[in-house]
Amino acid sequence: MSAYIRFQGLWKAFGKKRIYENLSLDVQQGETLTIIGGSGTGKSVLLKCLIGLMYPDQGEVVFDGTDIATLDEPQLREVRRRVAMVFQGAALFDSLTVGQNIAYPLREQMPELKEADIAARVAHNLELVDLKGIEAMRPADLSGGMRKRVGLARAIATEPQVILWDEPTTGLDPISTRVIDELIISMKKRLGCTSLVVTHDMDSAFRVSDRMAMLADRTIVATGTVAEMKASTHPKVRAFFDARN
Ligand SMILES: Nc1ncnc2c1ncn2[C@@H]1O[C@H](COP(=O)(O)OP(=O)(O)O)[C@@H](O)[C@H]1O
Ligand SMILES: [Mg+2]
Repeated sequence: MSAYIRFQGLWKAFGKKRIYENLSLDVQQGETLTIIGGSGTGKSVLLKCLIGLMYPDQGEVVFDGTDIATLDEPQLREVRRRVAMVFQGAALFDSLTVGQNIAYPLREQMPELKEADIAARVAHNLELVDLKGIEAMRPADLSGGMRKRVGLARAIATEPQVILWDEPTTGLDPISTRVIDELIISMKKRLGCTSLVVTHDMDSAFRVSDRMAMLADRTIVATGTVAEMKASTHPKVRAFFDARN
C-alpha cells in the first residue's frame, strides 16, 4: 500500500546551499506527523513542496497518488483546497471583521454556500478555537494569541483533508498553546484529517503526534512514535531533545 503523502528521494539546493540530499518521508492518511529539526533545516520548504509553492530539484512529492510536479494551475488549486497551510504568522485582513475574515475562503472556494450556511460555519469555527461570538470584532482589537486562533479558524473553515501547521504555537502563551494542541487533536478526531506539524515545542509535539520525524543533516534521520523518539539513541535526536529539557 502506498502512502497518502510521499516525499521520495528529494534533493534541493538554493544556490550553493544544499537543503535536501535524498530526503524521503511517508505520511499515512489520518495520522498527525510532527516534523522537528533546527532552524533553517528546510521544514517549511518541505510543506511548501507539498502544495506546489516550491519544487525539489530532484525527487517526487506525491499526494494521494499524484506527483505534484505534473499538475497544472487548476489542479494545484484543487490540491490547495484539499491541503490547507496554516502559515507561520498568517496575516488577517485588518479592514475586515473576524467573521468576514473567516467567511472569506468559504466565499472564494465554496460559492454554492448560502449566507446562512456561511454564518453557521463561521460561528462553528470560532467555537472550535474557543472564541465563540467574536464575529463583529476587528483583528486590531485582539491579542496575538487570539489573532492566531482566528487565523486557524479561517484556515480550517473549508474543512480540508490535510492541514499543514507551520509552527502554530510559536510565540503563544501556554493557554493559547494548549488550545492549538487541542485543535490539532480535534481536527483529527472530528474530520479524520491528516496533519503535518512543524514545531519547536516538544511538549506540544509529544501531545499531538502519532509519529515524529527529525530533519537533520539534509535528510530525515529518524522517525517513530513519541515513545520511540523519546527512547531514540540517534545522536541528533538526543541532542535536540536534551537541548530543550
Ligand atoms: N525562497 C528561498 N530562496 C532562497 N533560500 C531559501 C528560500 N526559502 C528558504 N530558503 C533557505 O532554505 C533553508 C530552509 O528554509 P526553511 O524551510 O524556511 O527552514 P525551517 O526549517 O526553519 O522552516 C534556509 O536556509 C532558508 O534560508
Ligand atoms: Mg520554518
